[in-house]
Amino acid sequence: MSLEARHLAIAYGDATAVWDASLEVADAEIVSVIGPNGAGKTTLINAIAGLLRWRQGELRFDGIDLATVAAHQICRHGIALVPEGRRLFGHMSVEENLDIGCYRSEARRARKASLDHVYERFPILRDRRRQIAGSLSGGQQQMLAIGRALMARPRLLLLDEPSLGLAPAVVDGMFEIIRTIHDEGVAILIVEQNVMKALSIADRAYVLEEGRIIASGSPAALLAESHIQQAYLGVSDGRES
Ligand SMILES: Nc1ncnc2c1ncn2[C@@H]1O[C@H](COP(=O)(O)OP(=O)(O)O)[C@@H](O)[C@H]1O
Ligand SMILES: [Mg+2]
Repeated sequence: MSLEARHLAIAYGDATAVWDASLEVADAEIVSVIGPNGAGKTTLINAIAGLLRWRQGELRFDGIDLATVAAHQICRHGIALVPEGRRLFGHMSVEENLDIGCYRSEARRARKASLDHVYERFPILRDRRRQIAGSLSGGQQQMLAIGRALMARPRLLLLDEPSLGLAPAVVDGMFEIIRTIHDEGVAILIVEQNVMKALSIADRAYVLEEGRIIASGSPAALLAESHIQQAYLGVSDGRES
């Protein structure tokens, strides 16, 4: 598994949201992209998931140029997205929501095994499989959104703000789940506003601001940068104002 984005530019009509973004996810890595609201995190991850086309640059997965892959085929190559805000069908049952994630033909054949796999990871979803998704708690809905992505048996899991709207204790559990999925051999790309959480789980991270990658490196190196401390961690620079 390898993902390589080179000099990507992504726009909505005339409005460019991402300029010249380059990033990599190697096998067995957890990579985080942090940045404030409006930085372009969702735009970038949606392009990788095949939901948006890029204007310039190159996106390769296992060496394959993703520009040559139709949007609905991206999942076949082993990339699955847990979208921002989860995007569940609230009036459909838990199991019906999981079935929506099972769209690769190979994955569909493996439906039973994949369902068992997801239910073993999230026993609460098995208990509630006939309940409508909208009746679940926020944390359970995020589990369902992750479970739906896992139904496609991805090799790269993309997570857009998995902590959004969750209580701190629930966020901790969610990040533990993400680590377990990684430990079973799935590479992970997370975009997050929750900087400490996103850095604490990552092998490497990128900082995206106003559509540009302005820094990258190990979490420890990024945490030592004064810009990161001031902009994200509320640490003052020590100068009198
Ligand atoms: N569908 C859209 N149409 C036009 N502009 C958009 C759309 N989605 C996002 N944008 C703009 O693109 C920029 C990046 O947004 P987004 O990728 O959602 O940022 P983030 O996920 O980091 O909060 C913002 O300026 C936002 O207003
Ligand atoms: Mg976003």
